[in-house]
Amino acid sequence: MKIIAFNGSPRSGGNTELLLAEVLKPLREAGHDIAVFNLNSMNFIPCQDCGGCVASGICIHDDAMTRIYAAIREADRIILASPIFFYSLSAQTKAMVDRCQAFWCEKYLLQKTIPAGPHGRKGLLLLVGGMKKEECRITAEATAKGFFRTCSVPEHETLFYKEVDAKGAIQKHPTALKDAYEAGKRLVK
Ligand SMILES: Cc1cc2nc3c(=O)[nH]c(=O)nc-3n(C[C@H](O)[C@H](O)[C@H](O)COP(=O)(O)O)c2cc1C
Repeated sequence: MKIIAFNGSPRSGGNTELLLAEVLKPLREAGHDIAVFNLNSMNFIPCQDCGGCVASGICIHDDAMTRIYAAIREADRIILASPIFFYSLSAQTKAMVDRCQAFWCEKYLLQKTIPAGPHGRKGLLLLVGGMKKEECRITAEATAKGFFRTCSVPEHETLFYKEVDAKGAIQKHPTALKDAYEAGKRLVK
């Protein structure tokens, strides 16, 4: 299967990256075609609300998102991994999500969904936050759900870990890494 993963954390070796690496382990072991997009180091502009995609569903800006649009179209599985920043997805993640307005126009204005391959389309959302508040899951997940449905991903599973703040602290969580490995396996079942 074609699997794409977005890492929305700017912190190299941070909790989001560690969690994502664990999800990808069983998928690599099974020989899937995997592409990881480290959003913090990619060069693309935020959505300009220029209306350039309204009539066609195609964004008129040619930057690193061009590669992401193509990858989303072809993906059987999409993994969105983000730290919680101010109760939401990180800016790096949100900028990518906003640029998917082009898919929104295609789906909701032009009434065309991205066709699924023989394996269907599924998503996995990974969220890590430092605070105790469960509320962060609800707000961040609402945005992520909008992203998945806009990209014609009809279902997704969410793994959310709160009170995980220091770099690498996810490794001390009693279940997170094992949960992530198992979620990776479930994603392609
Ligand atoms: C700008 C910024 C905003 C944050 N806002 C929140 C927040 O609203 N809720 C929360 O639970 N954690 C918040 N955190 C903490 C991070 O989510 C936490 O440290 C997380 O483990 C970072 O993941 P990473 O190591 O993958 O970057 C914030 C951190 C930063 C830097």
